[in-house]
Amino acid sequence: MSMPVINPLRVGLRQERVVAPQCLVIFGASGDLTHRKLVPALFQLFKQRRLPSEFALLGCARRAWTDQYFREKMANALEEDIRENPEAWSQFSKGLFYEPVDLERPSDLIRLGERLEEIDRIRATHNNRTFYLSVAPKFYSNGCRALAEAGLLKDPKRSRIVIEKPFGRDFSSAQSLNRLVQSCGQERQIFRIDHYLGKETVQNILVLRFANSIFEPIWNRNYISNVQITAAETVGVEERAGYYESSGALRDMVQNHLTQMLAITAMEPPGHFDPEAIRNEKAKVLQAARIANEIEPWKCCVRGQYEKGGSKESPLLAYREESGVNPNSTTETYVAMKLFIDNWRWQGVPFYIRTGKRLAKRVSEVVLTFREAPVHLFDAAGGSPTSNQLVLRIQPDEGAEFRFEVKSPGSGMRSRPVEMEFSYDQSFGEPSDEGYVRLLADAMLGDPTLFTRSDEVEAAWRLYTPLLELIEDSPWQLPIHPYESRTWGPASSDALLAKDDLLWRRP
Ligand code: BG6
Repeated sequence: MSMPVINPLRVGLRQERVVAPQCLVIFGASGDLTHRKLVPALFQLFKQRRLPSEFALLGCARRAWTDQYFREKMANALEEDIRENPEAWSQFSKGLFYEPVDLERPSDLIRLGERLEEIDRIRATHNNRTFYLSVAPKFYSNGCRALAEAGLLKDPKRSRIVIEKPFGRDFSSAQSLNRLVQSCGQERQIFRIDHYLGKETVQNILVLRFANSIFEPIWNRNYISNVQITAAETVGVEERAGYYESSGALRDMVQNHLTQMLAITAMEPPGHFDPEAIRNEKAKVLQAARIANEIEPWKCCVRGQYEKGGSKESPLLAYREESGVNPNSTTETYVAMKLFIDNWRWQGVPFYIRTGKRLAKRVSEVVLTFREAPVHLFDAAGGSPTSNQLVLRIQPDEGAEFRFEVKSPGSGMRSRPVEMEFSYDQSFGEPSDEGYVRLLADAMLGDPTLFTRSDEVEAAWRLYTPLLELIEDSPWQLPIHPYESRTWGPASSDALLAKDDLLWRRP
């Protein structure tokens, strides 16, 4: 008797949990993130029937908007989606509300409390609340304190707080912020968000590593010669100069997104799939990580800034010419560096990470290069045999590929590399959700697995302390190298790898 073939698309691959009745309160609701990412993600959850009918979104910001105006603003941002799903939007938008709130004015907090009670009555949201701080980082501490003082974080089972990145500016400010937020609520109420952890392909690194028996035995210094982690963007600073000028690529991308990809790639297998087991392993590996040369950091790190570029028809501005940017700015838009992880698994294996704006291509990936075969028995078609390489493609072309040598057809015995490929799109036929879809649902469900714990955030800041201090005290030692827009960054970044006889992968 033959076994029935199960078509995964037909039985439905998604195993989705439905959010409990609640009100999500977004502070900073007039800002970019709300209409670009958060409301589209919530609408997506609504269409997937993962939001209960007892759900409300309360937008808060200082502007004197009304419920109606807030709904219209959100509708403008979702125009195309609404055109395809008008009925869903009409249902969903009934649960959108707005309240003008300045988190620094106690009277506003009292009014907020009253409004929440009213929403509880209208939408049956059972006093269950998730507060999302999508405000400028300098308001995080006062925001948490204000919510706690207003008694809105009192019940750890029914109130959660989501805090956007960057969580702190360096190790000591992250430590103080942790202390402050932990005095306002319990750690299980605090959700430090890093949207890279919401990406399907970043989570897939865990599944690929720990659901297959073939990878784990070779996932270490005996087989892997180096790891490259890239997050390249084609966009420039856009409208965010105000924030970016005081952040730069190191704080904006490296300390969080790239470090999280590194932690997931390098962590030890957890004993169980539960939030604390996973986060313990991530914290441990970050505590063992260090930049390759802590005494002379300029030898293992490169900073760059984009210059003009593009074509005659669509010229691109240099970073220093962008609106809101200081014409003499020394903020980096590109960082590349070499790190080591001092533990049994990874001792001596270099991890190279790089990120930049206005690079040649939008691509994020993790590349593990394996050691060469010990003896070369065959001639290689390209001169020398390539090393095996596993590429975990985070975006945009989500999937993975493995490169290995095969016999070149013909009478000789020459080898040449080929690629074996897995693509999310081809295998599952549906696009992955944006990271925020997963993370908003998890925060509202109270599941912290994909959020960073206080010790992880501190370990990540500690890792970059030698660089941050050098930039602060003697920036000339870590100068900014200009690079043309839409290229692969400054030449000194290639030189960083050339010192180790390596090249960056050009995806
Ligand atoms: C954000 C950074 O966290 O991530 C942005 O602040 C960056 O500067 C963005 O553009 C990149 O995210 P993604 O998902 O497009 O890779």
